[in-house]
Amino acid sequence: MFDAIAGSYDLMNRVMTLGQDQRWRRFVVQKAQSPGEGWVLDLATGTGDIAALMRQSYPQARVIGSDFSRNMLEEARKRFSSLHIHWQAGDANALPFADNVFESVTFGYLLRNVDDSLRVLREVHRVLKPGGRVVCLDTTPPARNALLPFVRFYFRFGIPLMGRLIARDAAAYSYLTGSTMDFHTAEDLAALFRQAGFSEVGFRKFMLGTIGIHWGKKHEQPDPA
Ligand SMILES: C[S@@+](CC[C@H](N)C(=O)[O-])C[C@H]1O[C@@H](n2cnc3c(N)ncnc32)[C@H](O)[C@@H]1O
Repeated sequence: MFDAIAGSYDLMNRVMTLGQDQRWRRFVVQKAQSPGEGWVLDLATGTGDIAALMRQSYPQARVIGSDFSRNMLEEARKRFSSLHIHWQAGDANALPFADNVFESVTFGYLLRNVDDSLRVLREVHRVLKPGGRVVCLDTTPPARNALLPFVRFYFRFGIPLMGRLIARDAAAYSYLTGSTMDFHTAEDLAALFRQAGFSEVGFRKFMLGTIGIHWGKKHEQPDPA
């Protein structure tokens, strides 16, 4: 599915989020904090926006953008050919990296798409250095409040319609709606971060509570075996 929508992904993102999506990615990069000259990983990098912002914000850092969709990686490579970023194919369920290597790991809109969020969070914890930071951007099921009918309407009809008109793929964007409604609440996701071993876990919501950014830190000392 991601291979099929790679070409229209960026336009669709801008329209669907009313131009807000880059602001959230900048917040991700800010929460990741400066890695100095260390290595950082943007998982499920897609067309590369978070990886590029990391590179531009922290020019000393060495940045890897990784994804399992080759078409997405191809778009990323084309868009950011002038930036020194390592693009690498990889599956978030089994990261092809050694333990304790990254200063920070970021990912946008990944966890909603995997079968087992905890497994991925444990993989991220494994590859982070002690003291390293994780930051996750994703959609969140909307809260039950007076705005819920409007938010539901937008997700159920507005987004699939835009998907049909812009990406010519209503099914992919109906999937976005379904996977958002079925995803962990922000509170439950924070609990999974703690279960995976992270401390200092927090989150903030955006866009009428439909977007969540979670963060956490790996303990300074390696966990006892
Ligand atoms: C909605 S896109 C997000 C792209 C980008 N992070 C952003 O901020 O726009 C989700 C990406 O996750 C990738 N993805 C989904 N499951 C994955 C997995 N198990 N391992 C690696 N990448 C995955 C898809 O290929 C797709 O590029």
